[in-house]
Order: sequence, then structure tokens, then C-alpha cells
Amino acid sequence: MLTLPGLIDPHVHLRTPGQEQKEDFFTGTSAAIAGGYTAVIDMPNNLQPITDVERLNEKREIARRQIVCDIGFHFGTLGDNLTEFKKVEAKVFGLKLYLNQTTGNYLLDESHLGKIFSEWTHKKPILVHAEETTFDKVLEVVKRYPRKVHLCHMSTEYELRRIIEAKEQGLPVTCGVTPHHLFLEKGDEDRLGAFGMMKPSLKPKSDVDFLWKHLVDVDMIESDHAPHTIEEKESSNPPFGVPGLETTLPLLLTAMHNGKLSFKEIERLCFEGPSNLLGIVQENTRVEIDENKEWEIKNENLFTKCKWTPFNNTKVKGKIKSVYIRGTKVFENDIILVKEKFGKLLP
Ligand code: DOR
Ligand code: ZN
Repeated sequence: MLTLPGLIDPHVHLRTPGQEQKEDFFTGTSAAIAGGYTAVIDMPNNLQPITDVERLNEKREIARRQIVCDIGFHFGTLGDNLTEFKKVEAKVFGLKLYLNQTTGNYLLDESHLGKIFSEWTHKKPILVHAEETTFDKVLEVVKRYPRKVHLCHMSTEYELRRIIEAKEQGLPVTCGVTPHHLFLEKGDEDRLGAFGMMKPSLKPKSDVDFLWKHLVDVDMIESDHAPHTIEEKESSNPPFGVPGLETTLPLLLTAMHNGKLSFKEIERLCFEGPSNLLGIVQENTRVEIDENKEWEIKNENLFTKCKWTPFNNTKVKGKIKSVYIRGTKVFENDIILVKEKFGKLLP
């Protein structure tokens, strides 16, 4: 048996309030626990984005009543709510900026970057969704306003090369990759259809190979758990995003058996990296793993409300046996053992 500390996912979309048909805090945090995560940080692109302290408080209160693992939140901005920053600072882990199109009409004009960077606290990171030209723009802005910046979901060789350069120049940047950009590629799009559509999109094999080869330069794995209903995905205008909380660790353990990364690397990417970036410390967490158990990922066994994964029918090796939070066993043999409100609001 192998053990890990409770994993931390710095990037999930649990959809509540507003899109409870996709996920709620009970199903989302159940999926987290089933995947070995004991803390998740939720993104602000709700139907009504989380851009003021009232909406943040409302979301925290709904979460408090539904969570089975610990949860924290990132704040959002379109550049028109700078006076809220001080009010929410103590209650959030970071500020999320969307510089490219994604789910929800929530796109930040890059001309606002300077004032946002100068207003946001030095202490907590700014997390950015930036691809291609907006990616370069963000790195320019970091040079002018040195703030802790986390570049979400690196998916190309170009992006990771620029991050490596930026770190060499001493810029305070970190980066993450998603499991889908490591375990799927452009060629899977035909097979998966809308169920393989997300932002950033899947990339050619050469990019995927580069990410694997340069994993030492990646600070963390973020699932970008982004559930949508099967009906929404099968519609004529499917939304972007795939769930990931329950499949990330089994896929990584399988990759470990295949010699692609070590167990220490899994711990660094899924625990130390996010813990260091966000300053999350949890008491007495543990994930017990039967590393040799072979099993098959199945849609119907998932805890996420959307009940599908792009990894349906994938054979994996390594299964989570039990999970502990604050010394209490919260999961064993595919069963959640605690009720709503067991989880705590972070920080
Ligand atoms: O594919 C995505 N879906 N990428 C994102 O950045 C957002 C997410 C969502 O909220 O559905
Ligand atoms: Zn996301």
C-alpha cells in the first residue's frame, strides 16, 4: 500500500450557485474525495460570476452546508470591481483572470491588466487563463508589476518554454497542467466529439510529449474539473470543459507503472505544488492507495453529477482505498463515509 497526503486541487468548477444541473457542492466534493482530494479551490465563473463580496459570501454559505471535503474560492474580475479586492482578500485564495474565451461570458479585456495587477494584494496569486498572444501579454505585465502569477493549464510546447524562460529571468510565476492535456491529444477529438472539447483545446502529440518530457518545470497538476451535463454536451452548441477530479490520480498512478513519472513526482504535483502556491495546510489527511489494483474507469461509478468522463472504459492500475481528513476516515471502498458539513471552508 502507498500513502499520500490529501491532494489539493487548485482549479475546479463546482457550478453552484446557478448551474446545479451540472454539479453542486455535495456531488463535487464527493467526487473530490473519491479522487483522493481533501481540498479543492473553486473558480469564480459561475452563471453570475463571483465579482463582489456579497456573491462570494452567498457562495461560501451555500458551500458550507453541502461540502464533504474542504473548499476554498478564487475571486473574479472584469476590471470594474477593484474596490472589492480589499473586502475579499482574506476570504479567497487568488484572483482569476480569463483572457481567452471559455465557458460563460466572462472575458477580460487585456487593457485592464495593469490596473488589476497594481490593485491586487502582493500576498495572493493572480491565476490566469491565457493562450497564445494573451499568454505573452501576461508575461509582459508581470515584468512591470511583479505579482505572484500562476499560469493555468499549460498545453503547448511554446507556453511551457516561455514559462521556463520567465522563471530563469526570476519572474514570480508558476504553472499547471491538466490531466486531459497529458493523457489525451488532438487525435482523440474525433472519437470523443464534444466530450473532448475544452479550453485550452487538446493539442498535437508533439506538445503532449513536450509536457511529459519537461514535467520538472511544471509546478502542479490542476484537474480543471469542468462538468457539463450529457444533454448540454450533445446539444448543437456544446459548452467547453471535462470533469477530472476522480480520474486524475488513477491515471497518474498508471503512468507511474508505465515509467512516465515517479510516486514522488505525483506527490509534488498534486500536493506540494498547490499547497505551496496557495498556502493550504490541512491537519491529518491521508490517502491510502492499493497501487497494484487494476480496474476500469466507468461513467456509472462516478460521483460527479454529470456522470461522464472522457476516460470512460480506460483501464488503470492503482486504486484509492481510503481517504482521511482531520483523522476521520471519509472514504473507503468506493463509499463516502461522512455527511454534508463535514468539510470546512478555507482559509
Ligand atoms: O474547458 C473549460 N471549461 N475551460 C475553462 O477554462 C472553463 C471551463 C468551464 O467552466 O466549463
Ligand atoms: Zn478552469
